[in-house]
Amino acid sequence: MVLIIRTLLLPNSISFGVSENYEFKPRNVRMKFLEVPQIVWGLNNQKIAFARACLTSRMLNRSLLMPSLSASLFYKEIDQLQPISFDKVFNFEKFNSLCDGFVRVSRYSDVRNQSNLIELQKGSGRRWTLERDLDQLKEFSKRDYDVYETIRVVGKNPFLWHDHWPVSDYAKVFECLVLVNEISKEANEVVSKIREFGSGITHVSSYQTPYVAIHMRIEKDWMIHCKKQEQRSNISNICSSKEEITTRVANIPTLEPPTILYLAVADVLLEDDTILNGWKQGMHPVDKKRLGLTENYKNRPYLIQAAIDYEVCLRADVFAGNSYSTFSSLLVLERTQKTLKTGVPHACRNNIRWPSYAYNIKGESDGPHLWMTNLSDSSLQAISYGSSSLSC
Ligand SMILES: *[C@@H]1O[C@H](CO)[C@@H](O)[C@H](O)[C@H]1NC(C)=O
Ligand SMILES: *[C@@H]1O[C@H](CO)[C@@H](O)[C@H](O)[C@H]1NC(C)=O
Ligand SMILES: *[C@@H]1O[C@H](CO)[C@@H](O)[C@H](O)[C@H]1NC(C)=O
Ligand SMILES: *[C@@H]1O[C@H](CO)[C@@H](O)[C@H](O)[C@H]1NC(C)=O
Repeated sequence: MVLIIRTLLLPNSISFGVSENYEFKPRNVRMKFLEVPQIVWGLNNQKIAFARACLTSRMLNRSLLMPSLSASLFYKEIDQLQPISFDKVFNFEKFNSLCDGFVRVSRYSDVRNQSNLIELQKGSGRRWTLERDLDQLKEFSKRDYDVYETIRVVGKNPFLWHDHWPVSDYAKVFECLVLVNEISKEANEVVSKIREFGSGITHVSSYQTPYVAIHMRIEKDWMIHCKKQEQRSNISNICSSKEEITTRVANIPTLEPPTILYLAVADVLLEDDTILNGWKQGMHPVDKKRLGLTENYKNRPYLIQAAIDYEVCLRADVFAGNSYSTFSSLLVLERTQKTLKTGVPHACRNNIRWPSYAYNIKGESDGPHLWMTNLSDSSLQAISYGSSSLSC
């Protein structure tokens, strides 16, 4: 009896119990859950994995139990993965209110009976095909499984699951991911430092010097990785040297000097002052070191640093990245969405708000190639694993 009453009251007592931190909780939410393994690797692999877990829970008509992300990039030693709760990075309430009716994330405290669960073992290997994976999900979405409060996926991380959803579904989930205040405040600080640096160049307060964010993948680890990739796939435009990047960026059409170049680089390159040299006259390069921000940065775990850099690149007037990088690719996806919202029919033009370019592919006038995301693509494959297809 007590149990039944508790069960009936639970959803309401949660929403009224938290007064200041208003919890968005619509009525008639189905209290069935999906649990997934800890989400690992780079920021954007983690975002894709999270979105894939959300879309899986949507297919199973369940709510996703808030997963752990990983604060650290170490993935070889499991004990160094530093789990970090989703709501330490992204705003939980905002996520559910923006994604209401599409996908939903729940807290573990919403689960009434922790032992009422069934495990879903993801298959692996070559014989575990896309079709078999889809059949398994269809099976688990049947009403028979409604007796289980929770379905727990066991096996590999969601980034490696088979993909069954169009780019537009992923884009919807990404739009609901808003950084928590503490992190977005730090991103604001970087952007205002860049803007301040800009007014120091022009000395005109009414004019805002545009900034170009360049996601430079030129550190040694990446160069080794991308050279191997080029050999394996017989493609020659994956790696770009610093010289290629500086030349192509110098030739971005419609970009009138003076401009600021914000160089988003791996930590090791912050020690290398030569990356600030060799840029075109009138293009003023800055990195976190020159902006005086390295001290704040060093104390932050990898995931938070990447989230801040991502935000700074997202807001840049112009972005240039490598089409084989997941970080660059997701940025272009979100920037394309932003641009299309301004009402332009097509984002493949130089004179739009927030244009993006791939510096590893040659475009007009020896500049970098214009780049947008094809939001009608039927799978995220091209974005998550990199390609030279730029939809422009
Ligand atoms: C999902 O659950 C809701 C609430 O129980 C129900 O109304 C709806 O029909 C379900 N959808 C599917 C596809 O099973
Ligand atoms: C919780 O679920 C398990 C497995 O379904 C069941 O055996 C048990 O009775 C449930 N406990 C309560 C308190 O309902
Ligand atoms: C690699 O690509 C080049 C040019 O596209 C082509 O001529 C060559 O035959 C290819 N080599 C292999 C091993 O596929
Ligand atoms: C976008 O993707 C759709 C579906 O795959 C395809 O029909 C269309 O041609 C693509 N558009 C561009 C510009 O690549």
